[in-house]
Amino acid sequence: MIGRLNHVAIAVQDIEAASALYRTTLGADVSEPVAQTAHGVTTVFITLPNTKIELLEPLGSDSPIRSFLDKNPSGGIHHVCYEVDDINAARDKLLADGARVLGNGEPKIGAHGKPVLFLHPKDFCGTLVELEQA
Ligand code: CO
Repeated sequence: MIGRLNHVAIAVQDIEAASALYRTTLGADVSEPVAQTAHGVTTVFITLPNTKIELLEPLGSDSPIRSFLDKNPSGGIHHVCYEVDDINAARDKLLADGARVLGNGEPKIGAHGKPVLFLHPKDFCGTLVELEQA
C-alpha cells in the first residue's frame, strides 16, 4: 500500500541554524523557511536526490511540536511520510486493521498542499507516520 518515502521530518529549535547546517556543512539544497500558520510550524524543505528532509520549528504558543521539543531539546526525528495512491482507501484499510488515525480521521491539507493523515506512533514501532496522497 505505501509507496515512496516522501520525507523525513526533523523538529528543531532554531530553523535558521538547522538550515545553515544542512546548506553549508552538509551541502544540501535547502529552501527558504515558510510559516505554516494553520499547522503551527515553520517549515524548510531540503531536497535530496531520492527524498526530502522537512525541518520543523514551532510557530506560535500552542505548536503541535512543542511538547516533542520539550522532551527532545536537541531536536530529533519527528515523523516519516509515506506516499499512498488513495488516502481514503488507505485510512479505511488501516482502521479496519485496528490502527489509530489521529484527529477526526479526515485527511487535512498538509504542507505540500496535498491530503495527509497521521497515524498513532504506538501502532507503528514508536514512529509517528504521515501518509500523503501522491
Ligand atoms: Co511531514
